[in-house]
Amino acid sequence: MGGGAKMNISADIETALIDAAKEAGRHAYAPYSDYHVGAALLFEDGAVITGSNVENASYGLALCAETVAVSRAFGEGRRGGLKAVAVTGPTDKGDGSPITPCGRCRQVLNEIAQLGGTDPLVLCVGSDEIRRVTLSELLPHAFGPAHLS
Ligand code: THU
Repeated sequence: MGGGAKMNISADIETALIDAAKEAGRHAYAPYSDYHVGAALLFEDGAVITGSNVENASYGLALCAETVAVSRAFGEGRRGGLKAVAVTGPTDKGDGSPITPCGRCRQVLNEIAQLGGTDPLVLCVGSDEIRRVTLSELLPHAFGPAHLS
């Protein structure tokens, strides 16, 4: 597996996916970092599944928005078909540069992507810029389910 088809989505779908991520970010439970993140996953059938970060009084147990979204997707029975991901962060923190998924989230996203043989587009949203990359660019030479089969 690997080198799945390049994903392209229309400007309208892209905007809707980013809006869904922003909306999800409003439900973030982030009282410790006050850094609210939203993620939205677009599947090939048009479904959108969102997540937001969930922190914990035991700080190191925080779950990122992308991981929550992927967990929800697995919980709904999805095992592939991931076409695109949008990630949004707070606009009042940092330098406004696009937020990119953390290393663990890249690996978590890779699981569902590789299962379905796709290389999803990742929309990393900043204040004035959207960085469009593929998951394989964020996580080259990924270890995944194919290695275990
Ligand atoms: N966070 C995410 O939800 N996604 C990322 O890609 C980066 C970081 C969360 C984890 C933590 O709750 C807060 O942002 C600050 O690191």
